[in-house]
Amino acid sequence: EKGGYEYFMLKEIVEQPRAVADTLLGRVAVDGTLTLDEMRLAPQELRQISKIVIIACGTSYHAGLIAKYAIEHWCRIPCEVEVASEFRYRDPILDRQTLVIAISQSGESMDTLMATRYAREQQSRVLAICNVNGSTIPRESDGVLYTHAGPEVGVAATKTFLTQLVACYLVGLYLAQVRGLKFGDEINTIIGQLARMPEQVEKVLSTVEPVRELARSLADAKTVLFLGRHVGYPVAMEGALKLKELAYMHAEAFAAGELKHGPIALIEDGLPVVVVVPSREGRSVLHDKIVSNIQEIRARGARTIVIAEEGDESVRPYSDTLIEIPAVPTLLQPIVATVPLQVFACELALAKGNDVDQPRNLAKSVTVE
Ligand code: F6R
Repeated sequence: EKGGYEYFMLKEIVEQPRAVADTLLGRVAVDGTLTLDEMRLAPQELRQISKIVIIACGTSYHAGLIAKYAIEHWCRIPCEVEVASEFRYRDPILDRQTLVIAISQSGESMDTLMATRYAREQQSRVLAICNVNGSTIPRESDGVLYTHAGPEVGVAATKTFLTQLVACYLVGLYLAQVRGLKFGDEINTIIGQLARMPEQVEKVLSTVEPVRELARSLADAKTVLFLGRHVGYPVAMEGALKLKELAYMHAEAFAAGELKHGPIALIEDGLPVVVVVPSREGRSVLHDKIVSNIQEIRARGARTIVIAEEGDESVRPYSDTLIEIPAVPTLLQPIVATVPLQVFACELALAKGNDVDQPRNLAKSVTVE
């Protein structure tokens, strides 16, 4: 059932275009109207929300961080994101107008389940985003939006992460729709671009061979740093988490703007630093700032591994390795930018002889708090 691959994870990475397509299927009409009635949350309720709180763990938490950027931008609803294990222990402010979104691919993470129960006790509505039909978290929530990644066997989340992103985008766009926000050109463009994501992911997969070579060359590195800004920051965090869990290697992500506030002291000769460069669309200020970050770290000896959209020549002179991804709207970029990082971590782990389906000390779902 590994489809000719040595590990499930390798198969699950290449299944991502289909997983993304299946998660979009039947939810986006040709005219851009979204149908998410299955969520079981009435448009009337969704119109009354004054705040959104997202709770999740690990990779699902990273999906939540990305969702915050999209939801606040499209819906103008304040949105907080918190790791589920911290959430209920700090007396969070919740009420009937708060929509809590619990993201869990397995639907069984105890931390997320306990946070879900807590939120419902506080009278908040809970929407689950989940990949496993009928699992505990959706059963205990008010509504659910299922991702359709299919079963994920590898312990490290890959295709479920990409489909969680799709689900989060759908929720954000749907909220904007039911709340009657003016559907400007930007929203329509986004929906059109979202529908094209399966082919964009396919395109990334067809160009990742150099990432594999790069990963093999770094098998002896002690640490790898990841930098990003805006939605690229949680993507960097996801890249670092994948590397830790699969390659058992120290890895850390920073918001690129924080570099000068401390972490730049870590940069030394030959240190590999992966930088996720924001797309140039609409946010060129951020783009230019990260280009100067790359220059700064390279001047201090870092080995720069740069993920940037195709045709972005501005980063080429400062990139020891340049990994190109398709040009897509900034908010959707995590869908394409994450894929090379998954391949990178997986290949590096394989080069070290690790079992990427069953990394040491980890379980597919964490059913203790
Ligand atoms: C990372 C990973 C874990 C999970 C986390 C949450 O690759 O698999 O960090 O993302 O344990 O799991 P779910 O989404 O099932 O709640």
